[in-house]
Amino acid sequence: MLKFRHVREEELDAFWDAMSVAFAFDRDKEDEDHIYKIFEKDRMIAAFDESHLVGTFGAFSLNMTVPGGALPTAGTTIVTVLPTHRRSGALTGMMNAHFDEVIDKGEPLAALWASEAPIYGRFGYGAAADEAAVEISSDRISFEDIDREVSVRIVGLEDALTIFPPIFEAFRLQRAGTFVRSADWWRHKRLRDPKEERRGATAQRLAVAYRGEDPVGYIQFRTKDEWSRGGVPIGAVTIDELIGIDVAAELALWNFIANMDLMTTVKMRGRPIDDPLLWTLVDPRHLSRTISDGLWVRVMDVPAALSGRRYQSDGSIVLRIDDPFRPALGGTFKLDVEGGLGLCQPSDLEPALTLDASQLGTVYMGGRSIAEMAAAGTIQLDGDTAIEADRLFRWTPGPWCPDVF
Ligand SMILES: CC(C)(COP(=O)(O)OP(=O)(O)OC[C@H]1O[C@@H](n2cnc3c(N)ncnc32)[C@H](O)[C@@H]1OP(=O)(O)O)[C@@H](O)C(=O)NCCC(=O)NCCS
Repeated sequence: MLKFRHVREEELDAFWDAMSVAFAFDRDKEDEDHIYKIFEKDRMIAAFDESHLVGTFGAFSLNMTVPGGALPTAGTTIVTVLPTHRRSGALTGMMNAHFDEVIDKGEPLAALWASEAPIYGRFGYGAAADEAAVEISSDRISFEDIDREVSVRIVGLEDALTIFPPIFEAFRLQRAGTFVRSADWWRHKRLRDPKEERRGATAQRLAVAYRGEDPVGYIQFRTKDEWSRGGVPIGAVTIDELIGIDVAAELALWNFIANMDLMTTVKMRGRPIDDPLLWTLVDPRHLSRTISDGLWVRVMDVPAALSGRRYQSDGSIVLRIDDPFRPALGGTFKLDVEGGLGLCQPSDLEPALTLDASQLGTVYMGGRSIAEMAAAGTIQLDGDTAIEADRLFRWTPGPWCPDVF
């Protein structure tokens, strides 16, 4: 019989051993030292078979941007179960222990990145924000208009640790799905540059875009030197992060990358779906995009979560939320929006819309269409109500999470 509880200091070694087996990596003391700078040991949960640690689970206490605001969010992470104990309820047990803790802490949301799409819907998480992996030939990065006032300078790590965070902070408030990065997050995660991440490319390069003397954007990238058999340079730039406080700053950074000698291809894994490149490239057809799910969201407290975001139009709707995994979190609620501010309370009225917890997580950040889900038959709803519900829930810009955690 499996048991689930928080991990004790003396069990951390077994915790890492188990995680390294299920996640297929070799343990590395230096990695662990960095990770402990951002991990919250008191949120690490494990599954035990007698005294044997067989499953791992953790959470970050995040402050996540939601449409028009920010809410405390449990960032679920390091979920693994040993192959010897898979499909015997270990994840389900750890998830229950985690949800008890989230409810205790009063976090209205939980969020995660899923290694595989079928795992988390049953626990009430929904795929809320997609992302795109993009690739384009350097010579196809061309814009009608470039802000010539912006210049780019290469900087070192220590400068980046001071200059990047305020730029990200200005950007973060505009994008649901982002979250506050602590100084440790910057140093030990975002700008950490372990050798195994390089995959044949250089160490990371860091650069800042300045408008006059004001830093307005930054980029983190690597280059890979490559030559054709005939001696033609065919190097590739891989961008890890590119952030501007406005689109002009971002385009100046793309332009800088496009003009790097010896490089002919530019790749970036996580771009928002509503990428300004789609509207600003002279020939956007050359931008190849592969779309996949990014951030998954779980609403843990319906009234707090729906009252805690803003809305782009006013109105009212009565919703029923079915929550098969934690039925007590579901129920019927009325959302009233006035002046963009929402008030959500339990209600006895007849619901106009029924969603399961996972569907609520999917639409919560404003990036999904309830009408599209109704048209696909996954929500039973007449067309007018679906359009009305979309009018309330949709939010621009769409959600995007640049941090995989
Ligand atoms: C994903 C993982 C944690 C699941 O753990 P587990 O203990 O086997 O899960 P449970 O036994 O609690 O499964 C609960 C339910 O989810 C289903 N499920 C679990 N993992 C699944 C998967 N990868 N795909 C589809 N269904 C899955 C189970 O079949 C079970 O369904 P049932 O209740 O209808 O029988 C485990 O397989 C694992 O460690 N995988 C490798 C690491 C990984 O991908 N971790 C996730 C990181 S985001």
